[in-house]
Amino acid sequence: MERPSAKAPTVEGKMYHIMLGPGEIPPYVLLPGDPGRIDDIVATWDEWRELAFHREYRSVKGRYKGVEIGAVSTGIGGPSTAIAVEELARIGVHTFIRVGTTGAIQPDIELGTVIIGYAAVRYDGASGEYAPPEYPAAATPEVVLALVEAAERLGVPYRVGVVASTATFHLGQSRPGFRGYEWSRSRERLADLQRMGVLSFEMEAATIFTLASLYGLRAGCVCAAIANRVTDEFKPGVGVREAILVANEAVRILAEADREKGRKPASITTLYNAVRKLYG
Ligand code: URA
Repeated sequence: MERPSAKAPTVEGKMYHIMLGPGEIPPYVLLPGDPGRIDDIVATWDEWRELAFHREYRSVKGRYKGVEIGAVSTGIGGPSTAIAVEELARIGVHTFIRVGTTGAIQPDIELGTVIIGYAAVRYDGASGEYAPPEYPAAATPEVVLALVEAAERLGVPYRVGVVASTATFHLGQSRPGFRGYEWSRSRERLADLQRMGVLSFEMEAATIFTLASLYGLRAGCVCAAIANRVTDEFKPGVGVREAILVANEAVRILAEADREKGRKPASITTLYNAVRKLYG
């Protein structure tokens, strides 16, 4: 029997937190925060089965339109998300798509709009353990393009831009704390980001983008705007099904492209042509 290691903890060959072993989950994985959202995800697949449910990490695998796909809940925020990405990378996952919810900070973003993040402001905390603040949290261009293509195909209203990932839901997103507590940074963050053109707040994308980029893996993010902080609207659940469908379809697009090119990175010309097609 293998001697247990404190440096790289496993239990009977499985990753200590997610409780999955090498090859158990397909290499294309959706990452919702909420374990309960796994039910919404598998409801859109042709078939599925649960692999593990340990702490906040609920893992499933299945098929969407014939393509093998997995999903693992990360829990809320950077620290638990970093653990999920670390352990999934070790067991062979190469493509991560966060699918969740977000709070819009631009006045013209309607509730239910799907936000595709191509980069994230790194207020998540966890990514600071991996790289200095100057290191960008950028999504993988081919994943962003696949998400955009998927939204177009499905006729889902979407916006593409920068999101801000925060370490907390309240002060980190300019919501007053208990008894109205705030300080200058928490009060001013929303207006500052709005002036910078940032689209929305969420809590995991920066961690996923940073780790994937450092490890040469691929990542993207698609979130339903369930809140608008400018108009003070809030509708839990709106647009979530659409965000899930976009994520599924993006996996199908990426898996097909990978099969054709043997998982070589898309050439600059391919990306250039795709961007030109999208933005004219
Ligand atoms: N998720 C967030 O992180 N913030 C919101 O306002 C809504 C969803």
